[in-house]
Amino acid sequence: MKVLLIGGGGREHALGWKIMQSPLVTELVSAPGNPGLTTLGRCVSVSAENVAALVRLAIKEAPDLVVVGPEVALAEGLVDQLQALNIAVFGPSAAAAQLESSKAFTKELCARHNIPTARHRTVQTMADAKVFLRTLAAPFVLKADGLAAGKGVVIAQDMDEAVAAAQDMLDGQFGAASQTLVIEEFMHGLEASFFALSDGEAVMPLIAAQDHKRAFDGDLGPNTGGMGAFSPVPHVDEFMAKRIMDEIIIPTIAAMREEGRPFTGVLFAGLMIGTDGPKLIEYNVRFGDPECQVLVMRLQSDLVPLLLACANGKLAQTLAPDWDKQACTTVVMAAKGYPGAYKKGLSLGLPEPGTDGVQMFHAGTTLDEDGNLVSAGGRVLAITAFGTSVGDAAANAYRQCEQIEFDGGFYRKDIGAKV
Ligand code: AMP
Ligand code: GLY
Repeated sequence: MKVLLIGGGGREHALGWKIMQSPLVTELVSAPGNPGLTTLGRCVSVSAENVAALVRLAIKEAPDLVVVGPEVALAEGLVDQLQALNIAVFGPSAAAAQLESSKAFTKELCARHNIPTARHRTVQTMADAKVFLRTLAAPFVLKADGLAAGKGVVIAQDMDEAVAAAQDMLDGQFGAASQTLVIEEFMHGLEASFFALSDGEAVMPLIAAQDHKRAFDGDLGPNTGGMGAFSPVPHVDEFMAKRIMDEIIIPTIAAMREEGRPFTGVLFAGLMIGTDGPKLIEYNVRFGDPECQVLVMRLQSDLVPLLLACANGKLAQTLAPDWDKQACTTVVMAAKGYPGAYKKGLSLGLPEPGTDGVQMFHAGTTLDEDGNLVSAGGRVLAITAFGTSVGDAAANAYRQCEQIEFDGGFYRKDIGAKV
């Protein structure tokens, strides 16, 4: 079969790498893809955010399955349009993608269905913001309602900072995405990302991974898309995974179905695990980047039947996958300045692939006019390795990072160090 993969980051290189290991797949086309994906199939220069052009591409390529990596096209209804054309697609409808594209929607869904999350209020005026802030204790959490590329969350240490942040957001800091704010109580505990598949009816747990959101060592610096990840996560053992499924994921899938917007695809729960159990921080409606890199490395089963089963409503008849017992850690190499302004076109020197259990996934790379590999984004590479423990896997990934020539690049040196 032929698969059309939408996206061109580290997550998509990892997905394409795993998809091409499937005996079912004969051809992979990526839009827009990256130099890593070029080694696995054809890349066509169509933006992952241009829904009309993606629909035209899908009609032309006639794939047996479309797999959507990033969130923007999901929120804009790519899946709805492909389904109307009878093209099988892995990912949620626009109505179901609201779990990610509207934090207010998700909070209200949680309230209606008793899904544990932080106490919150949705506000559109400073007066309402101040009234609710006065009912909370510091630190205060303020979030833009809409998609803000992972930057729409402020944790304010005191009331003055909270009021100033609310004012900035309501004044249009994130455009329409911050005309509505969600203000919520601060939750204490350990964070984890948990992934589950659904075809709208059945739910299948995958595994947990942990991201590193801050740019610098010691969780300092600004929030990024994610600077590294590992799996397994010690605080999500089998018992906790079952609680997460029973208390959060399964009720959410049931609620979405009941409310007439069945969720298909991968549900990614950002969780806070506290003394009173797991609570939802937020949902994403796609694989995490870079969590996906460690997930697909640990997945021993064929990924493609799982993706197809979600697309075709056959998840209940599909066997649960097997996972590698080894730990896996990924280290993101980024361009200096990321997540702020950074240079593109920085030259990259990759060693020959060779080491078993290590993968160099491309994220923001491209080939220059002379065919040399150069950087093309903030997050440039995701170096992913197995090990006997998270720390051992990290050591293996770091050994590979040291072999890579990347002047003008940086990476965190403490991925997985907390374990
Ligand atoms: P989000 O973009 O919603 O994942 O938020 C970014 C980060 O802010 C999360 O990974 C948490 O570290 C933190 N965060 C968000 N909401 C809360 C909350 N209610 N309590 C504590 N930390 C939070
Ligand atoms: N790494 C977090 C995300 O993909 O949203």
